[in-house]
Amino acid sequence: MTQYIIEGGNELEGEINSSGSKNASLPIIAASILSGKTTTLYNVPNIQDIKITLDILRILGCKIDRKNGKIIIDSGRMNKTEIPKELMHKLRSSVILAGAILGRFNKAIFSYPGGCDIGGRPIDLHIKSLKKLGINIEEEAGYIICSRDKIIGADIHLDFPSVGVTENLMLASVLAEGETTITNVAMEPEIIDLQRFLNRMGAKVSGAGENVIKIQGVKKLKNVSYNIMPDRIEIGTFLCMTAITGGNIIINNVNNEDIKSITSKLEETGVRVKQEKSSIEIMAPKKLKAIDIKTMPYPGFPTDMQSVFGAMLTVAKGTSLIVENIFENRFRYLNELKKMGAKVSIEGNVAIIKGVKKLHGAEMEAPDLRGGAAICTAALVAKGQSTVSNISHILRGYENFDKKLRKLNVQIKLGT
Ligand code: EPZ
Repeated sequence: MTQYIIEGGNELEGEINSSGSKNASLPIIAASILSGKTTTLYNVPNIQDIKITLDILRILGCKIDRKNGKIIIDSGRMNKTEIPKELMHKLRSSVILAGAILGRFNKAIFSYPGGCDIGGRPIDLHIKSLKKLGINIEEEAGYIICSRDKIIGADIHLDFPSVGVTENLMLASVLAEGETTITNVAMEPEIIDLQRFLNRMGAKVSGAGENVIKIQGVKKLKNVSYNIMPDRIEIGTFLCMTAITGGNIIINNVNNEDIKSITSKLEETGVRVKQEKSSIEIMAPKKLKAIDIKTMPYPGFPTDMQSVFGAMLTVAKGTSLIVENIFENRFRYLNELKKMGAKVSIEGNVAIIKGVKKLHGAEMEAPDLRGGAAICTAALVAKGQSTVSNISHILRGYENFDKKLRKLNVQIKLGT
């Protein structure tokens, strides 16, 4: 089984470009179903989750071309409205395809995505909010059958500012009759990117980034070309990897507005950052200070950065406290870090990390996408060699991960 082999001890130095955002690309690829026309996307990361999403679109009848860094999706001949069960299980976030299929065809059939590495990933809020949009929902033999003669706009209040539910409702309402108002929505930057894309297509969406989104239904949409936003979680990951090694790197193609909660937490550990128009430089001290973290919906500290920060804090001076408020099973990476000598204890959704002077290399397994990146982060400073297996988790969400690390002076290679 493929694994990373990492020799600890090098400081990260040099310069890289960020990749396009996985979590903006997925809903925007789903949105390309709505137009029945051609969508051309630039800066889409070449990662497994995108590949699976494009495979689903092909199965639904879309024509997909991927050449010299762009993806061309023609959804004109799309003729199916059922997402295959096995692909739903492979990609939890494929539930947002349901909103787009419904939005265009007034019918969608999908199944429960099933739990994943970081939690149960229920879709009860998705189903509840689609019902509030007047969608008829029946369950039969494990399939969820959604239909509605004509989707009429409605006023919907979300119990929780769920990213996926916000995106699903936006997609299902674009071609509805009348106006849909959604309150208590997620405010993540990826939602703003989706709104910008939809309006470029001819939709009428406003309010993304605040807590009320309005969608005025339109009759048709047009061909569109669009450049995906930078991946703020990938950027945060490389910043933490630099911080733990006391290094100094520059990352280009950064939207500094999107990473405020990440850089402000990093500065609390003692690193310095210099933010230019679309790049960031980080200069890290030899020893980081311990800090406290609570994950929250945006603009709070992002749950997707919790694991990598936890890894970084295993060698900070002092004791750090992490409270994970979003997902119920996002501390599994900490048990792997104990193999390297990390001093951690977990009580429910609280992790206590007592900084140690040194970690030593170990054989570890990536438990999930961000947990895998966290283990690699710790391996960068561990004495000697570490191996990280199950790297398919990491390849789901990071483009050219080991190639970018080698460019930053890290000794990392693929092994079997
Ligand atoms: C999106 O997941 C992201 N994925 C996640 O990134 C990210 O961690 C999460 O938002 C929070 O920011 C994509 O955008 C593809 P939620 P999503 O609905 O939409 C519960 C990564 O590492 N919930 O905001 O699934 C849910 O279980 C991934 O890139 C319900 O209970 O997140 C979770 O506890 C991981 N019922 C909480 O809400 C529902 O119907 C937040 O979930 C839906 C969600």
